[in-house]
Amino acid sequence: MRFLTRALLLIAALLGLVLAVVLYYVINPDLPVYVPAEQVHYLDQWTEQDRQTYYFTPQGTEVKGLRYDWFGALELPFSEKRFATPEYLARFGFLVDPKQHATPANPGNLPVGFTQHTNPGSNERYLDITCAACHTGELRFKGQAVRIDGGAAHHVLPSSVPTLRGGSFGQALVASLFSTYYNPWKFQRFARTVLGENYDAQHEQLRTDFKQSLNTFVHEAWNDTHRGLYPTQEGPGRTDAFGRIANAAFGAGVSEKNYRVANAPVDYPQLWDIWKFDWVQWNGSAQQPMARNIGEALGVGATLTMFDAAGQALTGDARYPSGARISDLHTIEVTLQGLKAPVWPQELLGAIDRSRAAQGKTLFARNCAGCHVPSVEKTPERDVLLLKNLPVAYIGTDPNTADNIFNQRYDLSALKWDPKELAALNVKVYPTAEVPLDTSHVSMTTGLAYITAFVEARAYRDMKLTPAQTLEFDGFGLPISVREERTYRARPLDGVWATPPFLHNGSVPSLYQLLSPQDERAATFYTGSVEFDPRHVGYSTENFAGAFLFDTKISGNHNSGHEFRTGPLGNGVIGRLLQPEERWALVEYLKVIGGPLDTQLQ
Ligand code: HEC
Ligand code: HEC
Repeated sequence: MRFLTRALLLIAALLGLVLAVVLYYVINPDLPVYVPAEQVHYLDQWTEQDRQTYYFTPQGTEVKGLRYDWFGALELPFSEKRFATPEYLARFGFLVDPKQHATPANPGNLPVGFTQHTNPGSNERYLDITCAACHTGELRFKGQAVRIDGGAAHHVLPSSVPTLRGGSFGQALVASLFSTYYNPWKFQRFARTVLGENYDAQHEQLRTDFKQSLNTFVHEAWNDTHRGLYPTQEGPGRTDAFGRIANAAFGAGVSEKNYRVANAPVDYPQLWDIWKFDWVQWNGSAQQPMARNIGEALGVGATLTMFDAAGQALTGDARYPSGARISDLHTIEVTLQGLKAPVWPQELLGAIDRSRAAQGKTLFARNCAGCHVPSVEKTPERDVLLLKNLPVAYIGTDPNTADNIFNQRYDLSALKWDPKELAALNVKVYPTAEVPLDTSHVSMTTGLAYITAFVEARAYRDMKLTPAQTLEFDGFGLPISVREERTYRARPLDGVWATPPFLHNGSVPSLYQLLSPQDERAATFYTGSVEFDPRHVGYSTENFAGAFLFDTKISGNHNSGHEFRTGPLGNGVIGRLLQPEERWALVEYLKVIGGPLDTQLQ
């Protein structure tokens, strides 16, 4: 008996200890403090109206059923302060203006990219995370902020797997939802704010709906954790986009046999000029803008129905209703066509050394242009930039994302796809398969192409688009092409100075380090700060409270490849060793490449 009592006491003490640790980090989340900038400077990239359209047009994503008004009314776990204040959300790396206030486009006074939508036939307003949340950047220098529209976000939005030290958005949000549900005083204040005069009539229903949303969060966190889906911590500014989309569409959507470990976090790429690229994505695997955007919306939480209420696969014209907002996606895509690359603001970040930049320009022509200056194919609709795609084995950067996308196979036979129907879809797979598609063994990009093709065709039918409108919505009449290759793509470098850290996995903190051999690059560094270093061109990598330790030894984080080093080309070496003076000259040139100063250099 004494043994049993002791064992129980020990277990109780251990549980108490775990609870104390969890509570400690809920009260003191491991987040950077927010220091407001003196002023946010916008560069001349597009009009203010374009900016507002881009920041707040919804795309149809839902954050596990969270309503817009709920989000605004949530309190922090141990205080009556609101969760969704600009100052608090800024600590997760979301972008706000100092002294910002609610506007018609942003009535909840939320950060860039946080917006709302209602679905047809319903008044429920859902919180909607749109493109701008991930594709807008900001640099800080001497107390000033420089906003980079279409640039790379540096937030911790996607991380859903609880870590002991906390610090992720999902974890903090669940802590708030949890305490609001289980603390009766909190829930009452919350419900009165949300419902106003309808409190008496509707608070029971609100409690039921709220619990459902909370359950979805907890279920996903448990699913991701016990399956060990995301072993490589993403940290600020990264997400395993393809891995997460595949787990949502094929795992949660079709069969739990299809969950795969996603250990390949990637940076948020910059979006200027992407509408001219022949292929998009870090690995150059996708082509049609609408299908790309639908796939992304599904990954970020747009609803998708592939089975009926009885669990039978939808067939024929019933395939596939989705919450992705086709018309809004088109609006955003067209708006992005007006986005210009950011031009280095000399008055804020320091003067350009023109003679050094001119030396850099010459070096660039010799050592870089072969890969980074695309040839141009003129078509009536646009100048298509034909980008170079390099085999992973040659470029030598971290292979995980290219390998996962290339290697993984999924069992989609439950969807009952008929080969004749697939052949009628607007999908092209390169290289062309020699055998008919085996639906129990489908690759990531091909599976996504067919799902998005069904969603797109269904939406276009419902909207009754004319053939001409269809070509326009698709984007330049492009088919839903996917390219199955193990490659990374060399993009044009206009505005690249504004998008640290570098390479597809953000493993190299500055341009200077990218031009240095791997053994001169930092093996570990801290991320989470957007304090800009205009000399090396990167963010500050110093430690600070709430910083994330980026360790390049971890799978998915390797900082190998794209090296200029003495030795034979290939296996990650792409050019001769560059002397420090040459690296500085190239860095100076990369500050102005493609901009107005570039043409004046000689
Ligand atoms: C949750 C964050 C997130 C949201 C929201 C998001 N994206 Fe992305 N986007 C990414 C990531 C990460 C990648 C890189 C994926 C890859 O290539 O592996 C990406 C890639 C892209 C690319 C390819 C860029 C290139 O260099 O080839 C385009 C274009 C793009 N996104 C446009 C959009 C548009 C338009 C929207 C809204 C309709 C959107 N994204 C919403 C995270 C996001
Ligand atoms: C052999 C082709 C090749 C050459 C030569 C080359 N690059 Fe690259 N570059 C690439 C590829 C491919 C990537 C993408 C690699 C990745 O993300 O894993 C890249 C990525 C980059 C990036 C990071 C882009 C981003 O958004 O993170 C920069 C900056 C860059 N290169 C600069 C240069 C400079 C400067 C030179 C010349 C000194 C150069 N490159 C030479 C192929 C090349």
